[in-house]
Parts: sequence; C-alpha cells; structure tokens
Amino acid sequence: MTLAPLPASAELVCFNHSCRARFPITEILYNCPKCGGLIEAAYAAPSMDAPELKKLFRERRMSNAPLDQSGVWRYRELSPFLDDYSHVVTLREGNTPLLDAPLAADYGGLKALTFKHQGFNPTGSFKDNGMTCGVAQARRLGMQRVACVSTGNTSASMAAYAAAAGLKAFIFLPHGNISFGKLAQALEYGAKTLEIEANFDEILALIRVLAERVGIYLLNSMNPFRIEGQKSIMFEMLDQRDWRVPDWVVLPGGNLGNVSAFGKGLREALAAGLIGRLPRLAVIQAEGSAPFYEYVHAGAHGEFHPVAHPETLATAIRIGDPVSWPKALNEVQTSKGAVEKVTEQEIADAKAVIGRCGIGCEPASAATLAGIRKLTGAGVIDKDADVVAVLTGNVLKDPDYIHKYHTDKLIAPGGVKIESTYGNKSIVMLNNADKIAGLLE
Ligand code: F0G
Repeated sequence: MTLAPLPASAELVCFNHSCRARFPITEILYNCPKCGGLIEAAYAAPSMDAPELKKLFRERRMSNAPLDQSGVWRYRELSPFLDDYSHVVTLREGNTPLLDAPLAADYGGLKALTFKHQGFNPTGSFKDNGMTCGVAQARRLGMQRVACVSTGNTSASMAAYAAAAGLKAFIFLPHGNISFGKLAQALEYGAKTLEIEANFDEILALIRVLAERVGIYLLNSMNPFRIEGQKSIMFEMLDQRDWRVPDWVVLPGGNLGNVSAFGKGLREALAAGLIGRLPRLAVIQAEGSAPFYEYVHAGAHGEFHPVAHPETLATAIRIGDPVSWPKALNEVQTSKGAVEKVTEQEIADAKAVIGRCGIGCEPASAATLAGIRKLTGAGVIDKDADVVAVLTGNVLKDPDYIHKYHTDKLIAPGGVKIESTYGNKSIVMLNNADKIAGLLE
C-alpha cells in the first residue's frame, strides 16, 4: 500500500482574505479566533506530478486495502492532513456512479446529462465523504464525543461513523422537520438523539456554545475536515471521466458546505495540473430557503440577509442562515458559475422525472434537475453543454414525500397543493383473477 508523504506543511488557515491567520492542523477551530472568519485546511503542493498521481489513483482501484477502497482516501495525497492513517474509519464511502439519464436530460433541456449519485454512499448521502475525514480528525485529536445539528443526512452519517469508530454521538434535530428515514438511521446507529423545538439555524447557534462548554467535537460542515472529505466527490467524478472536465457541475445548496468543498477541490486539482480548467458551479436553492440566491442576485455585496423562517418540503436544504456562504460565493464567482432557485412544484416534478430514469433521489437532490431546466430555459446553460448534476441523497431517504406526491396528497408550506404531474398511484383490487386480467389487458 502506498502511503501519502507526511504532511509537514498541513495547517489551518483563516478563509478571510484580509486575515489569513494560520494555526496548527491539530487546533480545534470552526472559526478564526482573530476575525471570526471560516477556517480551511491548506497544504503544500503534492510531491508527485499529475501523471503519477493519476496512475496511483487508478492503480488503487485494484487494491484490497481499505484506504484504497475508499472513494475518499484513495485521493489522500490531495487532502494530506493526517500524520497517521490508523485514525481512519472507512465504510468504503464514495465509489458512487456516474449515470447517464436521457429522459432527465430531455426534461432539463439538454442533449445529455450525467448524474453523480451520492445516494449510493453507505448511509445514502454525500455526507459520508466528509464524515470519514471529520471522524478521523476527531480520533486523531483524542475526542471521545462528537455532535452535529442536522436536517437529517449529516446526523445519519455521523451516527454511523461514530458508531464504527467507537465514539459517542450526540445529534440535534429540528423537531418535526426531518424525514423519518433519516431519523430512523440515527436511532439505528445508536446515537443519542435530541429533537429540539427550533430550526436548523437556531440549533447550530446553540450547539456551538454547548460544544465549547462541554468539550464535544462538532462535525457540521464548518468543520474544515468535512470539507476536505467532500472535495473527493469532484476528484472521483473527474477520475471516472478520465479527467475530462465537464462544462457545468450542478448541486443543491443548503448550508453551502458542499459547493465550498467542490470549488476547493476543483481549484486544487487545477493547481496540481490534474485538470486544465475549472467547470462552472451552479448552486440550486429551494425558493422558500434561498438566502444565497437572493444575495447573489442582489449584486453579492454588503450584508448577507438570512431567511428567518426557511420553508421547503426538501427538508435537507431547509436552511435560512448558511454558514459557508462566503466560501460558496468565492467558488461560484471563481468558476463563473450561477445560482438559481426553484419552486416546490418544480422540485417535486423533477424528482419524479429522475425516478422515471430508474435512478431516483431525495427531494433536495432533485433541485438540481429543476434548476438545470430553468438555467437552460434562460440560456445560462447551453443545450449542448456537458453537465454533471450531483444527486446528494438516496431515493429511500424520504418515502413519505414520494407516497404523497404519487397519491396527490403533497402539500407545500403555506398550504399550497403540489400537482401530481407524473403521479403513479397504486391500485387496490379484490383477489379476482378475471378483474385483474381485465386490467392487465
Ligand atoms: N442535499 C442533501 C440531501 C443534503 O442533506 C444537504 C444538506 C444538501 C443537499 C445541502 O448541502 O448544506 O452542503 O449546501 N444537509 C445537511 C444535513 C445540512 O444536516 O444533513 P450543503
């Protein structure tokens, strides 16, 4: 097994460009103690050149070593923050497919469309890519307890990785606003689960204070090591395309950690010579939870205005005060990207179309296809463009939503009824062969 060189130069750096304060990689930081800015991990350039790295990454796909089998740690030379890989717990995260979807392409106004489906991860979402890194850092720091607030997927993932690593997991959820499938995962993986009568943003503010007071390691996406893991989604996507760069990468935006991770990974891949240009990043938000869309479309200057009461049935992205917006803005601007918002009806219909491709995803993920349809309609994305849309969560994460949509019972916030445009109701029948045969004919 080939190990990465020791990261003598790995450190934490303040993301705020007028500060750029530097800290040891082993400091527990979610914000800069000097200016309050976001924190990121930074490294010296990899010691291998691009052809060597590509060869190494490809060879590891043949390996039976756990680190090599992980779709995150396979690319460890690009995120070399650990000095000892015995801290890693891997559930073989990543390794998610690129799927062509002609029906969805047509719906989205494109000639072709590829989905990178993160729902194929061990706990069914892209959070696993980040969590293996966050939990490795927790173990390296000797932390015994980890915590997060979550709209459901982070908690499912953290619960699993903490259990596998022998850490105690504390989960804080917005009561009544997470899907049953995600809550069930947290319980099954044995996490201490608290449902709080507050929304995601309010609980995040609460647990930041609590974590410091009682010494728990926070694994929300302002944890820089989560971002390091989620970068690998882009490395794996490029590797699977033999390093051919798409024109656009489209993803849903909630707390905006994932777009921050994608942008960082892509810039680092460019700097390492693995690719020759950046794809454009398109972030799609749900209309009732779209503070980033509003900020960018108002010119992206001055104060950021959170949405006080975010609403959407795509509960994964029901976030009004996204912590990573400064990083996300940098990535959208650097990549000459776009930000779009979509309605509840648009999300629901796009989701059903992704289902009809035989692929399926959870509601937040379907914002991608709804956004693509809008962006091609507006001429922002060309119909010939090479587009990769990232489906962030598995179809089984939110079966209640699916059943309601197909039985014409889905009601959006504010009491607005969602049309069951592509509805597919089951038919209840008596056990009567003649009647059933009649139906089949
Ligand atoms: N899609 C899904 C399925 C998600 O679970 C999330 C975030 C997002 C998209 C948005 O990603 O926050 O990085 O912009 N879920 C978090 C959670 C907030 O707690 O599981 P983001």
